[in-house]
Amino acid sequence: MINLAILISGRGSNMEAILRAVKKKKIPVTPTIVISNKPDAKGLKIAQKLGVKTAVVESAGIKGGRWEYDKKLVSVLEENNVTPKNGLVCLAGFMRIMSPEFIKHYRGRILNIHPAILPAFPGLHSQRQALEYGVKYSGCTVHFVDEGVDTGPIILQAVVEIKDNDTEESLSKRILRQEHKIYPQAVKLFAEGKIKTSGRKTIIS
Ligand code: GRF
Repeated sequence: MINLAILISGRGSNMEAILRAVKKKKIPVTPTIVISNKPDAKGLKIAQKLGVKTAVVESAGIKGGRWEYDKKLVSVLEENNVTPKNGLVCLAGFMRIMSPEFIKHYRGRILNIHPAILPAFPGLHSQRQALEYGVKYSGCTVHFVDEGVDTGPIILQAVVEIKDNDTEESLSKRILRQEHKIYPQAVKLFAEGKIKTSGRKTIIS
């Protein structure tokens, strides 16, 4: 069984969607640990209520490069038996860019959810970017994490139509509903060994 770790920084609604699906035995993983880089992340309490172990690895005030912080993450993950052999690390609103060293360590075992149809609107405030650009459709993407920002192989996407009167808030809300569907689905596919990658492409069996 795969040992699942979820990394968060705030609200944790994607984390919750994944953990609820795991609890309902819809996804064959062991929900091992939720880690936040912010001590006041709301998602921590939700994880605890769902009976999942939590840890805070605080990022504020850490000196040095990204790896200085990520090293600490790796220690906590490995102490909890989330390893490159049996682990899956899901970034769910984790507001940090992972170091190349972390990505190398867990190569092919890190997923992220992004609130746009990649490769459109990577980075921050994707919903605002989509509205400002004037696209008629946006959505969300679950992808493997590689060394770039939101550039890894795409696993699943869901499309949301943009309405003339959408605000950043209303669009974010509609996209979030889709995020809560496709992120658990992607974790399930991974856990069942149904995702193969071939260069940039993933093939779902
Ligand atoms: C989501 O919109 C996700 O796509 C983005 O950050 C947000 C996190 O929300 N990466 P939550 O913490 O999962 O509620």
